[in-house]
Amino acid sequence: MGRTLTFNIFRYNPSDPASAPHMDKFTLDETERMTLFIALNRIREELDPTLMFDFCCRAGICGACAMVINGRPGLACHTKTKEMPDEITLMPLPVFKLVGDLSVDTGVWFRTMYQKIESWVHTDKKFDPTAQEERMDNGLAEQIYELDRCIECGCCVGACGTALMREDFLGAVALNRLARFILDPRDQRTEKDYFDVVGTDEGIFGCMGLLACEDVCPKQIPLQEQLGKLRRKMALAAVKNILPKFLKKDF
Ligand code: SF4
Ligand code: SF4
Ligand code: FES
Repeated sequence: MGRTLTFNIFRYNPSDPASAPHMDKFTLDETERMTLFIALNRIREELDPTLMFDFCCRAGICGACAMVINGRPGLACHTKTKEMPDEITLMPLPVFKLVGDLSVDTGVWFRTMYQKIESWVHTDKKFDPTAQEERMDNGLAEQIYELDRCIECGCCVGACGTALMREDFLGAVALNRLARFILDPRDQRTEKDYFDVVGTDEGIFGCMGLLACEDVCPKQIPLQEQLGKLRRKMALAAVKNILPKFLKKDF
């Protein structure tokens, strides 16, 4: 006989003045190959049509179904119930604006952070649609692609102690995004330009380096390596910026 699963789900609709934050309990019989995505759809279809949560692809691609699953950020569509205990607690991702229940608005957060790091290739070159594509070294293209695999689910942000404490922190995802542009030879920004963007406490120097971000990333993006490289690069840039001023001083 299969298990009966109990789901404790956070409920709150900030746009309804009568709503107050609380937990609701639902029970479901577990079925073969059940994922949290399937369970949530069944709860909404069979038990409570007002339950709010997000999904789109059901395949770990869109990043929409990220939530806190028994205390750990993860994707609902990628979490099999057979790997979970009988009782499952689901909360919305922290840091992001709550839309309702398990649904959060990651879009506004990502747009703000990507604008801050100027997440586009900076170049003076005029685009010539008739010119042949410029070739990029295969190895380098693969390194950039490795970092571009991020699905913007926000799990790394929801797990980050600094992001929880300060809302201006760029988070591992935006720092990883900038690392991608540093690698890209088409981006003509200088070390100082990059330093001005992330060489601060809201950037790489705010990161405590405990690496919860990499632990929860469903795409296994090498965040630890990128944060380490960026920290060394920006520390070096800081020394290069400060040393000439320091040496000019008369003592
Ligand atoms: S290592 Fe840095 S970015 Fe990653 S979770 Fe910790 S503080 Fe956040
Ligand atoms: S770096 Fe990983 S955890 Fe963070 S948003 Fe991208 S895919 Fe999600
Ligand atoms: S529904 Fe797209 S990642 Fe889960």
